[in-house]
Amino acid sequence: MHKLTQKRVLKGLNQENIDLYLLDSVNSTNTFAKEKLSKKDYLIVTAEQQTAGRGRQGKEWYSPDSGNIYMSIKFENDDPAPLSLIIGLLISEAMDSVSGLKINAGLKWPNDLLISNKKICGILIESQIDAGNIEFIVGIGINYSLPKKEAWWGEIGNLAEILPREKLINSILRGVINYSENGYKNWKAAWEKRCMHLGVELKAVSNNQEEIETGIFKGINEEGKMLLQTPSGLKIISSGECSIKGVY
Ligand code: BTN
Repeated sequence: MHKLTQKRVLKGLNQENIDLYLLDSVNSTNTFAKEKLSKKDYLIVTAEQQTAGRGRQGKEWYSPDSGNIYMSIKFENDDPAPLSLIIGLLISEAMDSVSGLKINAGLKWPNDLLISNKKICGILIESQIDAGNIEFIVGIGINYSLPKKEAWWGEIGNLAEILPREKLINSILRGVINYSENGYKNWKAAWEKRCMHLGVELKAVSNNQEEIETGIFKGINEEGKMLLQTPSGLKIISSGECSIKGVY
């Protein structure tokens, strides 16, 4: 596996603004990023493996040393747009830009990325207060290859040829830093365009995996909440995730 280098990861970025840690092994890049003090605008951490990788809703994130991306970016952000949806959108765009529009990863609400109906990327966003300011820790896991997997987990696999890890990391960082500095004007329309279940029947599932509603997904509102057309009217779902028949 190609080792990550600072030069290639940060190509074209303003390095004076960035603290970068390229680690071999760590408990969780999110935990490391949270704890590390930095005077720079962005703290970026990657690792080849995580011994206690964390997923959403307190789940484990399987993190073997098999060439996957485990990355966290810590920065301050006061944009009112929903960061978790924006990050998924930026990653999908980065995949298109690196591969020359050949990937077409779909977004599944709130922030999973899918290729051929399987999850290849998960995002965990945490926040903390530092000297009175809110800083966000954006954790990104992208699976290139998994020695063992659940039926619904996908991997980049052979697509790595058109989606080299270092180029994808660099492109994601460009996207995130550009967003944090300039915002993203039409993020909602861009997100819906890349969503893989617009107009599809799905189940909204709460954080403890209980079904809340079944309905047709009608898109999102300005806060990134799900608009679901149910037999008893249009419902707005603010948390949890969705479950789609034949997908997950
Ligand atoms: C999910 O459950 O879908 C979110 C998975 C997030 C995994 C990434 S890997 C890098 C960062 N460090 C962690 O411990 N988790 C996130």
